[in-house]
Amino acid sequence: MRLLLLLILFQESIGLKTVTTSYGKVRGITDYSILGNDKFIFKGIPFVKPPLGDLRFSMPQKPDKWEGVLDASTYKAACPSNSSLSEHAQNFISEDCLYINIFTSQYCLKNKCPVIVYYHGGSYNLDSATMFPDKFILERYVEKGIVFVIPAYRLGVLGQFWLGDKELVPANLLVYDAIEALYYVQKDISNFGGNPRDVTIMGHSSGGQLVNALGVSSYVDPEQELFQKFIVLSSYEIFELEHFKINNSLNVARRVNCISKDHQEILKCMRNTDVMEILHAQRTMEDEDTAFFKSLIQAPPLMDYGEKLTEVKKRVPLRKLLCGVTEHEFEKYPYREGFRVEGVFLDFENPVETVTYYHDNFFNKTRNLFNTDSSAVFVSTATYTEAIVNAGGEVFLFETRQKPYSMHVSDMQYFIGIHRELNHTSDMDILDSFYSQMLVNFTKFGEPSPYWNKLDTREMNFLALEIDTENGIGPKMEKEFHKELVDFWLVDMMELDRNITEQQKSNNGSGEANGDVNPTPMQINLTTPGSYNSTQVILESTVLITYVSPIPPKATTYDPKIDEDQPVEGESAPIYNQWWFYAIIILIVIIAAVLILLALNKNNNPESLPLLA
Ligand SMILES: *[C@@H]1O[C@H](CO)[C@@H](O)[C@H](O)[C@H]1NC(C)=O
Ligand SMILES: *[C@@H]1O[C@H](CO)[C@@H](O)[C@H](O)[C@H]1NC(C)=O
Ligand SMILES: *[C@@H]1O[C@H](CO)[C@@H](O)[C@H](O)[C@H]1NC(C)=O
Ligand SMILES: *[C@@H]1O[C@H](CO)[C@@H](O)[C@H](O)[C@H]1NC(C)=O
Ligand SMILES: *[C@@H]1O[C@H](CO)[C@@H](O)[C@H](O)[C@H]1NC(C)=O
Ligand SMILES: *[C@@H]1O[C@H](CO)[C@@H](O)[C@H](O)[C@H]1NC(C)=O
Ligand SMILES: *[C@@H]1O[C@H](CO)[C@@H](O)[C@H](O)[C@H]1NC(C)=O
Ligand SMILES: *[C@@H]1O[C@H](CO)[C@@H](O)[C@H](O)[C@H]1NC(C)=O
Ligand SMILES: *[C@@H]1O[C@H](CO)[C@@H](O)[C@H](O)[C@H]1NC(C)=O
Repeated sequence: MRLLLLLILFQESIGLKTVTTSYGKVRGITDYSILGNDKFIFKGIPFVKPPLGDLRFSMPQKPDKWEGVLDASTYKAACPSNSSLSEHAQNFISEDCLYINIFTSQYCLKNKCPVIVYYHGGSYNLDSATMFPDKFILERYVEKGIVFVIPAYRLGVLGQFWLGDKELVPANLLVYDAIEALYYVQKDISNFGGNPRDVTIMGHSSGGQLVNALGVSSYVDPEQELFQKFIVLSSYEIFELEHFKINNSLNVARRVNCISKDHQEILKCMRNTDVMEILHAQRTMEDEDTAFFKSLIQAPPLMDYGEKLTEVKKRVPLRKLLCGVTEHEFEKYPYREGFRVEGVFLDFENPVETVTYYHDNFFNKTRNLFNTDSSAVFVSTATYTEAIVNAGGEVFLFETRQKPYSMHVSDMQYFIGIHRELNHTSDMDILDSFYSQMLVNFTKFGEPSPYWNKLDTREMNFLALEIDTENGIGPKMEKEFHKELVDFWLVDMMELDRNITEQQKSNNGSGEANGDVNPTPMQINLTTPGSYNSTQVILESTVLITYVSPIPPKATTYDPKIDEDQPVEGESAPIYNQWWFYAIIILIVIIAAVLILLALNKNNNPESLPLLA
């Protein structure tokens, strides 16, 4: 016992840290780079069983307990991905990837800090929980008294396979992984210095959609027990049409020769297929056509099957939200070749026709209406934040407008340390000095910053975040968040949708051929201020809306200095990679052995002490 204590004390003094969890002991690493408050990182802790064999395409299961001490000093594999969207592919992938990474500190171990659970983005298809710079997280969050947690979730077809039958495979499989991570946090985060009653979930891009979907769902955590606040950044709330998901799932099965009329057989075959073969099939489909396995569907555990988003917005639980967008989001990324409608961000009855009409008539007409990807971000942001405020929650809304150009990934440098712009201006440094602090303040105190008024839906007020010292511009409150665009979609496009329905009805009545839709052309003055009440529109709307596949911009646009697949470690090699570290360990073991022998001999055989003789 004394010896064990000695060993542990010794380990900690050389950069290791052991914590006891409900499943077993884990040993992470210590970071001394900020003096006075040691930081600890625990990488690759299992929070579910590895999703291998029969557990592929299955609900996540609680992990097994383990004996001894689990090494948590290095990241585990990233979940399998291979997309043309990423030029920084994860170079260490494995299906055995469902691990959680925890960043904490001496201060938190003593004082129980608020927790942020960060879900990475990447269209549910690429990127990972192991790609962010450790140092950034320690400096910006842990040093400020936050325990930061990054869980993995299954990507691509492995997290989205759906045959339309929940008895075979649950819908939105990856969302169950995400929720299971929150259960793990409830169970074990206090062992890492986190307060399980003070949890904020945070995400960017598809990670933002995931977080938003969890936050507004009345099914996932209606009593706010798993988490109390959420931070949603540049989220495009697009849900894929279910029949596309089923068709894509069957197509990927066909490509790996899992062909049968019986879905049970297909599933069995898919479980027996090499994961790299499945990944290859998915990549080939992406290369040949458009986006595959890059979105959630309107289904459990978030909502009922096929439930209208309008209904979801009517019963959002009471929470606090910090929500941000960037000025230009996907503006630079117009529709791709082979334009095709496959998702939904508002409830349209005629999603395909409406969005096709939008594409043919409004695309390129104005800056704001440049493409529907941006529409999905701005309109969703406006309508969900409004729904939360109407439910009695509080929302803080902002838009990053930093020059030279703020688009879908450009704020990542301020909150998670990647995509740092090559030409980093001093204005950007100023923004950088407080951006993550706003998130920290929101997490700790429920308010991002003094003087930032919470959202009033009559004004749709938001913080315009821009630093331009030369022209004396700083962050300031503005009103009417993307009003023109929101009006356009909620009023004009809704009306168009109804017109299409009307026309179809009359075509049916007069016996004309079906499908020949030619609605009265719109006379819309895009600069006319709207006079709608979007809450009312949302609540009264009975129509179902739709939209176009989201394609996030390629990472290269920003020439990120930090290679995403290489977690940034400290300057020098970690202590456990040094030869002398092992020499010391061996020495310690020898001394320990001697001490044990000594103790044993003292007790049992005081006469013979050969080693010391
Ligand atoms: C990813 O896909 C590309 C193109 O099909 C292929 O060349 C590459 O080997 C794949 N990488 C992995 C890790 O499967
Ligand atoms: C389903 O997939 C097949 C094969 O790729 C394709 O030809 C068909 O158009 C798809 N149907 C739908 C509704 O997406
Ligand atoms: C939109 O503008 C781009 C660039 O000016 C042009 O290449 C494209 O053809 C336009 N698309 C439509 C539908 O007008
Ligand atoms: C960086 O700024 C310099 C000077 O303003 C300019 O010449 C250069 O093209 C910029 N580089 C990038 C990658 O934007
Ligand atoms: C965060 O909160 C602290 C303490 O209330 C305050 O001094 C600081 O200005 C806040 N930071 C920002 C960016 O508002
Ligand atoms: C809908 O139809 C009415 C009457 O045909 C027409 O006046 C109106 O402009 C149409 N609205 C849209 C948005 O197309
Ligand atoms: C038009 O008729 C077809 C088949 O007769 C039916 O499926 C469709 O729902 C009808 N559409 C409307 C808008 O009534
Ligand atoms: C659109 O509205 C603006 C401002 O009210 C007005 O100046 C302009 O003439 C209108 N354009 C059309 C085509 O009605
Ligand atoms: C908008 O409509 C909702 C629901 O009818 C109502 O509660 C709210 O007060 C209205 N807001 C404004 C600004 O009229």
